[in-house]
Amino acid sequence: MNEKKYTVAIAGATGAVGEKMREILFQRNFPVSQVRYMASSRSMGRKLPWGDEQVEVEDLAQADFKGVDIALFSAGGSRSQKYAPRAVADGAIVIDNSSAFRMDEGVPLIVPEINGGEIKRHKGIIANPNCSTIQMVMALKPIYEYAGIKRVVVTTFQSVSGSGMNAIKELELQSKNVLEGTPEKSEVFPYPIAFECIPQIPNSDAFGENGYTSEEMKLLNETRKIMGDDKIAVTMTTVRVPVFISHCESVNVETEKDITPEKAREILDSFPGVKVQDDPSKEIYPLARKAAGKDEVFVGRIRKDESVQYGLNMWVVSDNIRKGAALNAIQIAEYMATNNLV
Ligand code: A2P
Repeated sequence: MNEKKYTVAIAGATGAVGEKMREILFQRNFPVSQVRYMASSRSMGRKLPWGDEQVEVEDLAQADFKGVDIALFSAGGSRSQKYAPRAVADGAIVIDNSSAFRMDEGVPLIVPEINGGEIKRHKGIIANPNCSTIQMVMALKPIYEYAGIKRVVVTTFQSVSGSGMNAIKELELQSKNVLEGTPEKSEVFPYPIAFECIPQIPNSDAFGENGYTSEEMKLLNETRKIMGDDKIAVTMTTVRVPVFISHCESVNVETEKDITPEKAREILDSFPGVKVQDDPSKEIYPLARKAAGKDEVFVGRIRKDESVQYGLNMWVVSDNIRKGAALNAIQIAEYMATNNLV
């Protein structure tokens, strides 16, 4: 990284992802000269930590971004639509965690280990992919390079933290209510999520005309954009499960060429950011709670798909708030700092 220090703004600093952005930015010693926190007017004046200091939260609607080098946005798509262009006009580079700009032609969609080189073609906004997509493409990329990929069949088991702080609180409260026999109330999810699996993400306006949810379509469209290959076939079902942190994915890959499970383990484990946990004889495989708080994408249960000529099954687990959101965004900022792109 060069000697420069940066003014960094976090829009959505009070949220589940914003909180991790604050922590990770500090922990990884990103060269910050000043940090600014922004959220809704409800949070204006609240103080949140930056190391040992306290920083006052500004109202995003009123804030100007003059002097901000990097603005990390995680305050929801409609806020990104509204305020990210203003941040860019004020001279900031926006790294946006929402889906607002991901599929726009001029907006690079980045997982640094895979396509960091694309960052430089940005016009002010760089998009952070969807959490489920990030961990899946991290596990697909080494296989793609080695054996080519024809088709992916993925089913996700997604934790509630993907829907933010209120969703975390809802699972906590509902679990308690169900166990105590008190009627449970559902505000965030369409049905109570405690002790349930809900095959619908997001929580409202989910379904398109083809019957797939918007979360499902992200897994197809974003994977193709990040991998730079419009021919990869992806079919998917996304499910919300009563887990607080980490998404799990059952990923079936049909490859162009042969790849043994042993080879897959070897190339996955040597891919930056991926760790193989795969020893069935000792009941070792990735778990959501073990992955929570970690930076890596964990892959296990790697085995041959015997129903096709060349194919593999695997189980992919990662902390959706870290690599799936906050960490990936900060790695984009680090890539820019290291390569003099900011
Ligand atoms: P606030 O805490 O003031 O509502 P989460 O995904 O955990 O629900 O977090 C959402 C983030 O987006 C929070 O930081 C939240 O701030 C912020 N946010 C929500 N609505 C607005 C808004 N209208 N303007 C600015 N920030 C908002």
